[in-house]
Amino acid sequence: MIVVIDGPAGSGKSSTAKAVAQKLKIQYLDSGALYRAATLIYNKCNQDRDKFFDTLNEVNISFKYSDAFFSVFVNDENISTQIRAQEVNNAVSIVAAMPEVRAYVNALMHEAVEHDHYIADGRDLGTAVFPKARLKFFMIADLEVRAQRRLKEMDDQNISLEEIRENIASRDAIDSSRDSDPLKKAPDAIEIDTTSFTFEEQVEFICAHIRPHLETAPKQ
Ligand code: DC
Repeated sequence: MIVVIDGPAGSGKSSTAKAVAQKLKIQYLDSGALYRAATLIYNKCNQDRDKFFDTLNEVNISFKYSDAFFSVFVNDENISTQIRAQEVNNAVSIVAAMPEVRAYVNALMHEAVEHDHYIADGRDLGTAVFPKARLKFFMIADLEVRAQRRLKEMDDQNISLEEIRENIASRDAIDSSRDSDPLKKAPDAIEIDTTSFTFEEQVEFICAHIRPHLETAPKQ
């Protein structure tokens, strides 16, 4: 069974999905982390598209969720910290708009979720990647609240609230307007505005929806 949460950057999808996974003892999949992994490779190829596509075909991107941590690897190297750097934030929407990259990441995800119960978060999971997901959620929050949350997450990096706000707003614009699978609420998704919800409330809201399905849904 796959449950998806889509929404813009900083809306609280990842932290909520992770907490739900822990509470319900199911698997978690962070699709943004896979786009970030591709972006790290793109940056290491000096943003040269030909070199990037050649490298993407040669390396092996893999991931693992255990002890509440989602880790991403390129070959055997754990890149989970590197993919959160500002250079990755700045280029990720460009890389995620490339149809070849979307096809690559989607194939990785489909393969992974076949044999267990998963909650995954992203931008297009309910519309394009898993249109038949058992449950779909769409999280939103005010830009200011989202920027404040990201600032807290990135407190070891030398970056201002204004820069984060601008980065999030520009990513929202690119993610929502690109041709390939833009950020969009699926018609059958349940919308959650996390501006006024407490974290515990939004986690429990989603858990309550999922619990009845855990008993009946097949793992695949
Ligand atoms: O959730 P995040 O900030 O880690 O995602 C990083 C970027 O990846 C985001 O700007 C858009 C892109 N992304 C996407 O296009 N589709 C997804 N399913 C997940 C993320």
